[in-house]
Amino acid sequence: MTFTVRPLSDAEWPAFIGVAYEAFNSSYPLELADKWKEVVEIGRCLAAVDGDLLVGTAGALSFTMTVPGGPIPVAGVTSVAVLPSHRRRGVLSALMRRQLDDLHTKGEAVAALYASEAGIYGRFGYGRAADNLFFRIPTRGSAFVPGAPADPSLRLRVAQPLEAHADLRRVFDAVVRDRPGLYARSDATWRVEVLNDSDHARGGNGPLRCMIVEDDAGPRGYALFRVRRGTTDHDVPDGEVQLFELFATDPAAYALTWRSVLDRDLCSHVHAVSRPVDDPIVHLLAEPRNLNAGWLDELWIRLVDVGRALASRTYAAPADLVIEVDDRVCPWNSGRWRLDTEKGACERTDQAPDLSLPVDVLGAAYLGGRPLQAFAGAGLVREHRKGAARELSTAMSWDPKPWAGLVF
Ligand SMILES: CC(C)(COP(=O)(O)OP(=O)(O)OC[C@H]1O[C@@H](n2cnc3c(N)ncnc32)[C@H](O)[C@@H]1OP(=O)(O)O)[C@@H](O)C(=O)NCCC(=O)NCCS
Repeated sequence: MTFTVRPLSDAEWPAFIGVAYEAFNSSYPLELADKWKEVVEIGRCLAAVDGDLLVGTAGALSFTMTVPGGPIPVAGVTSVAVLPSHRRRGVLSALMRRQLDDLHTKGEAVAALYASEAGIYGRFGYGRAADNLFFRIPTRGSAFVPGAPADPSLRLRVAQPLEAHADLRRVFDAVVRDRPGLYARSDATWRVEVLNDSDHARGGNGPLRCMIVEDDAGPRGYALFRVRRGTTDHDVPDGEVQLFELFATDPAAYALTWRSVLDRDLCSHVHAVSRPVDDPIVHLLAEPRNLNAGWLDELWIRLVDVGRALASRTYAAPADLVIEVDDRVCPWNSGRWRLDTEKGACERTDQAPDLSLPVDVLGAAYLGGRPLQAFAGAGLVREHRKGAARELSTAMSWDPKPWAGLVF
């Protein structure tokens, strides 16, 4: 098979959707494809073609994503797909090669993605930078600890998600800069993804529902969820709240927003997918075993330009050391970099290295959620000066822990 990689043309949109439809074993109707077009930046999509046939795709979204210290531009890699007839012959590798070259040429220092399978992207220099937790909390075992915050000025409001868009956005925009990994949402992202209530999105469950927590000054929290109605064998109500999104601006609003789903009548459980690993609910629940928590990898990060990426974030503690980076995919990153966090600088140097590591490990630690010290324990970071791994690990760690919260 011979194939070439080039930019996607607008006329190829139906073929682009066709590749995604096959590659992801999708079942969505074609009208959703038109909506998806509002989110995808066609000018930033790549096509792999075999003759006249589109066989592979990869896109990039122009995100403003929070990293430790504040928001920076990040390329959100999306729509990576190869036709089943053309797999394991290097199509993805060629798309990744071209995309990384393009990002580097355009001066984009950091790329991020959600991986459909955890085994795919490490070879392209992406590191597992964030995790998420999922919970299945029995509503009857969901009492909070004594001393959980409460604010009598707060009240609950039932809202229609689409009509409440401005309120939801106000809460989200107030928190997006607090947590590494969260990214600013366009109007299209709200409409097409967050507030999507198509039959396909419902998946046989109930409509999208919304509870807002507010005071006289406006909204301070919200929960978006569906209720899967059900009964036990004995006809006892046994519904499940499927919590899709929950944000709040302060602890009291956060606690009440959680109560609004945990106290939902006729439901025996709240199933919360994709919550941050340091979600305060872990500390609010009086019986934390009732979280029934599970764990998954979430964001993957690729440092496209090591020097600019490391100079673009803030550090939790001072560090001044020389890092030797091994990057076989993007050789412009390989070599020695002196990171001086006090000066906010990361520049090329000939000085002897304090430690050596592969670029994917640096990507994994970039958002502050993955301690480098643990990679040193695994033998993936090599110290040339005793204590260097701990120094860099402490400097790069960050609270709160990274989490993007919305698949792209
Ligand atoms: C994942 C996918 C894009 C791979 O495309 P491909 O063209 O077959 O990949 P390549 O031939 O370039 O493979 C490159 C390497 O990745 C490996 N690889 C590919 N898919 C993999 C997977 N799902 N899990 C683990 N490794 C994988 C290959 O074995 C190969 O390894 P090597 O470098 O050691 O030889 C394709 O299988 C696909 O479209 N899957 C369904 C949709 C999907 O999951 N997309 C990714 C969204 S994040």
